[in-house]
Amino acid sequence: MINKIGIIGGGNIGGVCVSEIVNRGLARNVALVDVKEPEFAAGKCLDVAEATPVYGRDVNVVGSKNYDILEGCDFVINTAGVPRAMRPDGTFPSREELLAINLKITDFVAAGIKKYCPDAFVISIANPLDAIVYRLFKKSGIKPHKIMGMAGVLDSARYKYFVAKEANVSVENIEAVVLGGHGDTMVPIRSACRIYGLPVEQFVTKSKLAKIEKRTRGAGGEVVKLLGSGSAFVSPAVSALEMIEAIAFDKRKIIPVAAYLQGEYGVKKLFVGVPAILGKNGIEEIIKVKLSPEEKKNLKVSINAVKKTCAEVDKTK
Ligand code: APR
Repeated sequence: MINKIGIIGGGNIGGVCVSEIVNRGLARNVALVDVKEPEFAAGKCLDVAEATPVYGRDVNVVGSKNYDILEGCDFVINTAGVPRAMRPDGTFPSREELLAINLKITDFVAAGIKKYCPDAFVISIANPLDAIVYRLFKKSGIKPHKIMGMAGVLDSARYKYFVAKEANVSVENIEAVVLGGHGDTMVPIRSACRIYGLPVEQFVTKSKLAKIEKRTRGAGGEVVKLLGSGSAFVSPAVSALEMIEAIAFDKRKIIPVAAYLQGEYGVKKLFVGVPAILGKNGIEEIIKVKLSPEEKKNLKVSINAVKKTCAEVDKTK
């Protein structure tokens, strides 16, 4: 069992993280920080704490506006930031359009982590994903193998779900990989998609797969449009917990994560979604995926999109 998990931002995603950690009995202590008045985090935690007898879990759940409750955390999940929502004119922003506002919040978050739990593993979920985790890394001083963005688990889960529905088989039979940035340029890798170890094309036609891959790229936006305000929250929360479990239980599980690359996939000093072995040291190894020329080209486009957003980040001190 983990001693302590900290959650920063107690809105939709943070709230599911807290209750799901208790549900699984994953940690002895959970600390939630949220700056929302009057005592939003404390209220959210009291609600979950009062459910612990029903869950049958002895987990201490504590919430505060102050970051000092993060002291001693083994893991931190960062969900602090504004999600996508419908504008008054009925249009929706891209994740990248959240950058300016979420960057300021991220600097605050980074200072808190640096001060109270500089040795924690950090999983960041706030958007734009690849740029926010990049900033968090730069400002918090967390070692590259201990900080990562949660995107690939979710993006590949979406791909798997759509493929399972189309093939009319269990989601458990599907293996899928999505690489690149967590934006509309992400790259579902058809050549690595398998159903019961067999090529996906044996079950789903090429034209249906093309539609599924397009839907995967826009899957976050699809949920945003349906909700009207806010974005997906259950799937991102449980995806982050899958990453924590791989590290905490030293599973050495191959999971797609936004990892700090130092030459892999031809990328240097950026966070990009790639499969990695997660074990007790965090990111233990980046896995290379053999790509078709088309997939290589698309990955380059996605990496360039991440580069562009991170260049914006670098313009603000
Ligand atoms: N420190 C701590 N919490 C903060 C801070 C801060 N400096 N600034 C904002 N928050 C809190 C807000 O008060 C809010 O409760 O972060 C919470 C975010 O919750 P939601 O608005 O419900 O957003 P959520 O759906 O959880 O998404 C959070 O993850 O997927 C991304 O795009 C999404 O960037 C968004 C983030």
